[in-house]
Amino acid sequence: MKILVVGGGGREHALCWALAASPLCDELYCAPGNAGIAEEATCLEIGAEDVDALVTAATDRAIDLAVVGPEAPLVAGLVDALEGAGVKTFGPSKAAAELEGSKAFAKELCAKHGIPTPAFQRFTDAEDAKAYAASQPLPIVVKADGLASGKGVTVCQTHGEAERAIDAALVDKRFGAAGDSVIVEQCLSGQEVSAFALVDGETALMLPCAQDHKPAYDGDTGPNTGGMGAYSPTPLVDEPTAELIHATILQPTVEAMKAEGRPFKGLLYAGLMMTPDGPQVLEYNVRFGDPECQVLVMRLMSDLLPALMAACDGVLDSFDMRWFAETAVSVVIAARGYPGSYQKGEPIGGLDALKAEEDLVVFHAGTKADADGSVRANGGRVLTVTALGGTLEEARERAYTAIDRIDWPGGFCRRDIGWRALAKPTIETED
Ligand code: GLY
Repeated sequence: MKILVVGGGGREHALCWALAASPLCDELYCAPGNAGIAEEATCLEIGAEDVDALVTAATDRAIDLAVVGPEAPLVAGLVDALEGAGVKTFGPSKAAAELEGSKAFAKELCAKHGIPTPAFQRFTDAEDAKAYAASQPLPIVVKADGLASGKGVTVCQTHGEAERAIDAALVDKRFGAAGDSVIVEQCLSGQEVSAFALVDGETALMLPCAQDHKPAYDGDTGPNTGGMGAYSPTPLVDEPTAELIHATILQPTVEAMKAEGRPFKGLLYAGLMMTPDGPQVLEYNVRFGDPECQVLVMRLMSDLLPALMAACDGVLDSFDMRWFAETAVSVVIAARGYPGSYQKGEPIGGLDALKAEEDLVVFHAGTKADADGSVRANGGRVLTVTALGGTLEEARERAYTAIDRIDWPGGFCRRDIGWRALAKPTIETED
């Protein structure tokens, strides 16, 4: 089979790594890819949002399956364009990608279909939003409705902060059209879990859960990022809890989308708050998490390619996937300054020596290669060092030992990935 993966981050490297290992994969392409992906796939110099060029590349090469990684092209309708040109594609249609493209749509879907989510109201008028926020207990969350590169969510400790966050979106238009409406939402405390399912329009085939680390620095301090590290499994999700997540969140979401005339196909990612009353949906994403995808592929025993095909073909009800029981840990190495401004172009050494390590893969996120093959930093999140171990401690040790062998003074990572699971896994109670 000829496969095209769209995207160029750590998630897409992980997808390419897993797909390249499939005996069904004869040719693998990635657009635009990165220096690490280039070792698994032929990289095409096409941006992930260049819909017309991607359709031409896929049809010219008679691609059998396209796999779209990032949210922006999904929300822009890349899957519709590829399928319209006859290319089988893993990922949701533009209508179904609204689940991530509009937080208001997602929250209203939950409210209408009885899917647990924190209380909320949607506003387009700043004064109405401020009046509602002022009537609510603190802290309170203000969210820009659309895609805002991870910057549209503010957890407000005071009503003044809530007013400023509302003004930033609705009055100052800091997020452009993504802030034309806002959600003002009850703030839940506790631990977050990332839950995933492959979906074929009808069936949610649940994958293992993971936990991410959004703040940039140790101890969950500093600005929020796309994710600085992840691990799977998480002690917060035992088998009964996984069944609860499937029965109360994932499968009902799939059924709700079908009932709304927007059948969902692809990867459904529910960001959940684990509360004493059960899991609640904080947000949906319509693609694999990054770096959660890296830990999932390390634990995947089955061939990924038939699983993605089964989602496209509507046969997940008779499909099963097998997973290694071991723990996978992924630690992101980012450019100093990320998620603010940072340097590009610095050389990164020590990567070749790590290729021979067992149960360890350095997935590239923002990298590019010189003509001689040497690797340079080319983004905010640059590498995701991912290890498998019999325990979380063992996997962490393997990942951090590898990181200490990477020569890149311009990079930084969190040194405490997995700390919550190692400290004391609990679901917070009221007292
Ligand atoms: N790691 C969080 C995300 O992919 O959205």
